[in-house]
Amino acid sequence: MKPILISGVQPTGKLHIGNYLGALKNFVALQNLPAGKAGSGKYECYFFIADLHSLTEDFSPKEKPRQVANLVLDFLAAGINPQKSTIFIQSQIPAHSELAWILNTIAPMGELSRMTQFKEKSENHKQNINIGLFDYPVLQAADILLYDATVVPVGEDQVQHLEFTRTLARKFNARFGKVFIEPKPLLTDVPRLMSLDNPTKKMSKSRLAGCLFLDDSAKAIREKIKRAVTDSGREVKYDPKHKPAISNLMKIYEAMGEKTIKEIETKFKNKGYGEFKNDLAEVVIKYLAPFQKKKKQLSREHSKIKSILVRGNKKASQKAEKKIKEIKNKIGLTV
Ligand code: ADP
Ligand code: TRP
Repeated sequence: MKPILISGVQPTGKLHIGNYLGALKNFVALQNLPAGKAGSGKYECYFFIADLHSLTEDFSPKEKPRQVANLVLDFLAAGINPQKSTIFIQSQIPAHSELAWILNTIAPMGELSRMTQFKEKSENHKQNINIGLFDYPVLQAADILLYDATVVPVGEDQVQHLEFTRTLARKFNARFGKVFIEPKPLLTDVPRLMSLDNPTKKMSKSRLAGCLFLDDSAKAIREKIKRAVTDSGREVKYDPKHKPAISNLMKIYEAMGEKTIKEIETKFKNKGYGEFKNDLAEVVIKYLAPFQKKKKQLSREHSKIKSILVRGNKKASQKAEKKIKEIKNKIGLTV
């Protein structure tokens, strides 16, 4: 049997290049890793839309289906291939919620209250600090443990949730007998892209001004990069400690795959930030063009997308149902 890989993304808005370089790009690379003798790929891959998680922040019921559909398009346009990977919608598989409840009964409140994401989101949405937001990592643990996943590609901000998932798995196994596998996070070489308007904060949907979105027009990309903050001095030099803003922009340049950091330094020696930024904007526009073109094409193929999801939900459901039975048996919830 192949090792299982799973990851989810919340349908809360447009994806930015931090999401792409930290997670989505890796989903595709890992999906396409060749197998040994075993067959088509190294991992059995599951990628899902974490729509239940997305209910923990303010949302509009009318907007939600559009956000889900848009994220499915992002997955496909980025290169997730439904012939190789299972794409599904979390809320369509009831076992996620069932397992979350069961895990709730062993989840330590103290540890949950120390989660960085919970603290940040509570700070940002003081008017809507709900139990779901607090319980978010337990549902995430259920998402992962339900599929016996061994690896979970995510950005660095999710490492703490993965550690918590491992804690719950260990605790459950110790108390009821071995049912769960302890998963590990898989990071890319851009695990934490910083915001364009503040290099001390991660690029995040909650800081719109600092994001480059995958759907941004050429004009928007040029404007945003022009406006991006820089450091004092004028030298294009990679030095995350003393020049965090320009180093972040250089990291984006490097991730576009045309040049290494050294080559970028050489190219812009004695040239200043302005010229570097102009060039970076063009490199980003060129990099995103194929994705944007593919997304546009896919957006017309409604029935094809629907059938991908029906198939994905069915496959995920079969696996999840089998596992939740095993779990219920372990804790004595049998008929
Ligand atoms: P956001 O913080 O923008 O709301 P999400 O929480 O929806 O992003 O994250 C989706 C995926 O993208 C996760 O795996 C997350 O770790 C990753 N990710 C988010 N922001 C970044 C970033 N700035 N750099 C690298 N990866 C990121
Ligand atoms: N918490 C993740 C994020 O904010 C989304 C997520 C939900 C997830 N369930 C997951 C990621 C399971 C990996 C595995 O981006």
